[in-house]
Amino acid sequence: MVFSLAPSPSVDLSQIRLKIRNLQPQLVQWRRHLHQRPELGFKEHLTSEFVIAKLEEWGIKYQSGIAKTGVVATITGTQPGPVLAIRADMDALPIQEQNQVEYRSQHDGLMHACGHDGHTAIALGTAYYLCQHPDQFRGTVKIIFQPAEEGPGGAKPMIEEGVLTNPQVEAIVGLHLWNRLPLGTIGVRSGALMAAVECFRCTILGKGGHGAMPEQTIDSILVGAQIITALQTIVARNVNPLDSAVVTVGEFHAGKAHNIIADSAHFSGTVRYFDSSYSGYFPARIEAIIAGICQAHNARYDLDYYPLYPPVINDPKITELIHSIALEVVETPAGITPACQTMGGEDMSFFLQQVPGCYFFLGSANPAKDLAYPHHHPRFDFDETALAIGVEIFVRFIEQFS
Ligand code: NI
Repeated sequence: MVFSLAPSPSVDLSQIRLKIRNLQPQLVQWRRHLHQRPELGFKEHLTSEFVIAKLEEWGIKYQSGIAKTGVVATITGTQPGPVLAIRADMDALPIQEQNQVEYRSQHDGLMHACGHDGHTAIALGTAYYLCQHPDQFRGTVKIIFQPAEEGPGGAKPMIEEGVLTNPQVEAIVGLHLWNRLPLGTIGVRSGALMAAVECFRCTILGKGGHGAMPEQTIDSILVGAQIITALQTIVARNVNPLDSAVVTVGEFHAGKAHNIIADSAHFSGTVRYFDSSYSGYFPARIEAIIAGICQAHNARYDLDYYPLYPPVINDPKITELIHSIALEVVETPAGITPACQTMGGEDMSFFLQQVPGCYFFLGSANPAKDLAYPHHHPRFDFDETALAIGVEIFVRFIEQFS
């Protein structure tokens, strides 16, 4: 189905919806302003300045410089009530934009290719709406503008600097514009939505020599190749088939010439899983395989394993509320899908470890307008109609949470 911005005579549109739809030109303007000025993680200086300028213009209290470039706006309703948080990420990617739109990136080699420009615009729209209507919600809303989601991660340092405390946040929600879903659909799911992200780097230390005299060498390429093949048995033969996991080796470098046996080989990879009970399981299995194969060949190894993000786990009650609000917004049950789990990762997970909440996907693809390229693609772009839908879900959540 397609979400239409034009008020339908058959639908009694609420005042909230009409007012938010009236914000659409500003949402587009802010998003395009940010799209033209993409910045990498922890370097979102222009983005942060833009957010601060808007908050000051609207008289909203804020704290800046949290985790370097993060900003937190605080808006209070006229009645006392809960403390809620909305989270938006602000960073872009090291990609050269190939779109020819007039609002294309002006920063060479950088691009908002994941839609975080849209997330920032939606959060600004929510802040603006709330500060204009303090009588429509109870309590306090913190709007968190987070740096560096694409890495190395801005959520954890923001939490360490106290964004969830003073006052203590009771529930948090966030969204990702999602080109895997068409405009007008929303992906909502209780429990695990996105995977834990862990990474490893390994160097195999063999003994180089002449390609024609292997008996004098320890072939690091051969050892590395056996390890990479054997690593796939972790998912195939160790992980419960009813659980989901991925082990990917994305990089393998070794050797200089066809007739030289390589002294060392290097590979790196990523591990993904949903179930937190697997935390700590993969480094042990990966090391056991590497150590065993190295021992068999008299090679040595150097392994570096580091977890990045935990899985994104949604709270059932808050997810149910987001689900019912999403249903009100898209007006058809077919527009809501729980089939949106992905092995992609997100550092929203750190917030959700501290506070119950819900992260959801806001459908943004529109193939008819050629807006359906995948995230992180040099031609990624999304249907901006989704911006007002995002604001409406956030605003309704804040008004309905109690
Ligand atoms: Ni993203």
